[in-house]
Amino acid sequence: MFVYEKELQYPVKIATPDPRMASLIISQYGGPDGELSASLRYLSQRFSMPYKELKGLLTDIGTEELGHLEIVGAMVHQLTRSLTHQEIMDGGFAPYFTDHGAGVYPQAAAGVPNTTAFLAVKGDPITDLHEDLAAEQKARTTYENLLHQADDPDVIDVLRYLREREIVHYQRFAEALGIVQDNLNCKNFYAYNPSLNLCCPNQ
Ligand SMILES: [Fe+2]
Repeated sequence: MFVYEKELQYPVKIATPDPRMASLIISQYGGPDGELSASLRYLSQRFSMPYKELKGLLTDIGTEELGHLEIVGAMVHQLTRSLTHQEIMDGGFAPYFTDHGAGVYPQAAAGVPNTTAFLAVKGDPITDLHEDLAAEQKARTTYENLLHQADDPDVIDVLRYLREREIVHYQRFAEALGIVQDNLNCKNFYAYNPSLNLCCPNQ
């Protein structure tokens, strides 16, 4: 169950429309390393994660990624408000506009629609956490690629915040992997069964 707060996790106040930038930032809405894929990946992986604190971590980060999805959506919306015909034609936005107008649609910058093929849920704690570590680095890289192409301080400020959160998530997943590895010698966690009370003080 989720409780919605009608407030962005980080404020988005972009004064100047920029359809070109919107057509790039949309990748962090619906692209392979974007916030939608990240939130669904973590919120799905948590069910089979064996330790309570790691289930909680995946729930926390997955929920925060939903908040980031909202931030990125707000950025795309503000960058494409009140566009003139000429701005649509000049800004490299016309292909996106053809299919989605000024709506916020989950796709990659290259136009590939979001798909659950972007998710990875293997049901193995080590495999899933390695996936998550890589996902956070890929998201960080994408934000850095966007920062290289941004020139509006209103946009740069939010992108920097989002990049910073990916670094924090990476660190938290690294700690989580350490917890799993610390418990490797307890019993075979692949066969985890809560009724056997096998592993770890963490359960
Ligand atoms: Fe993240």
